[in-house]
Amino acid sequence: MAPLKLQSRPEMFDFEGISMTHFFTDNWEKLQNFQARPDDILIATYPKAGTTWVSYILDLLYFGNDDLERQTSQPIYMRIPFLESCFPEFSTVTGTEMADNLPTSPRLIKTHLPVQFVPKSFWEQNSRVVYVARNAKDNAVSYFHFDRMNMVQPEPGDWNSFIQKFMKGKNVFGPWYDHVSGWWEKKQTYSNLLYLFYEDLVEDTGREVERLSSFLGLSTSVEEGEKITKSVQFDAMKQNNMTNHVTVSFMDFKISPFMRKGKVGDWKCHFTVAQNEQFDEIYKQKMKKTTVRCRTEI
Ligand code: A3P
Repeated sequence: MAPLKLQSRPEMFDFEGISMTHFFTDNWEKLQNFQARPDDILIATYPKAGTTWVSYILDLLYFGNDDLERQTSQPIYMRIPFLESCFPEFSTVTGTEMADNLPTSPRLIKTHLPVQFVPKSFWEQNSRVVYVARNAKDNAVSYFHFDRMNMVQPEPGDWNSFIQKFMKGKNVFGPWYDHVSGWWEKKQTYSNLLYLFYEDLVEDTGREVERLSSFLGLSTSVEEGEKITKSVQFDAMKQNNMTNHVTVSFMDFKISPFMRKGKVGDWKCHFTVAQNEQFDEIYKQKMKKTTVRCRTEI
């Protein structure tokens, strides 16, 4: 299927200190008034930190490999609404409407919002939240390739200009640094938040599946856990049309696949020595107040 083209890529603008596009601010009032439920599970990430991976794990933990209808006919992004999204050119429903219309319970809901923008009902309802962080260097590389192939994202420019923008926090959903550390701070006071790392998921997926199951209070059998771990391996998800996003009309897979490499340390193939030194220096300054630690290799 040829990718649908927009007239042009969206503009990025400053929205309460965060770079955004209109796709994520047009539904702002309804978003802020969204009614969360106590059994909702919010999956929160900076873009490209492993959202789809954790979403699929949660989907299988709750709804199982056995619901064939769900697993074979509904792409993951239809099962798990992207809360702040509003893509009138491509979808007749907004993210909040999709979430309101979900027939199943609990509702699994995805967001890339920085913590300060999350609708307050999630905190009031004490909903469970799973946050996934990925080290800044691999996250930046993945975001660069994503912006190249995703027509609803601003043009990334070449790698050097992209990484300069990333260090300044000029990406959609704002600075990686504030996102990851802001959610980390939230975890210190909000006990219903599980903070995961992409690198841990790569290192031992089965262990992280168990961790998720126990956080969610599920009694997943060893056998079921192993089955899920197998289904969510990179190659399996890359071949699975319900998780690999080939059905998304605004992504151009000739430019780059959505399931691209799925590695820790791919940044080494992109950063020059000079870029790496500059990045490390800025990272030290931006992250000096937080205790969150991400691994750039495993
Ligand atoms: P790469 O571009 O580095 O390959 P998101 O879902 O937040 O958009 O994140 C997408 C990134 O997660 C991509 O990273 C993708 O390949 C990676 N990913 C998705 N599923 C994965 C899996 N099962 N194992 C490892 N990485 C995975």
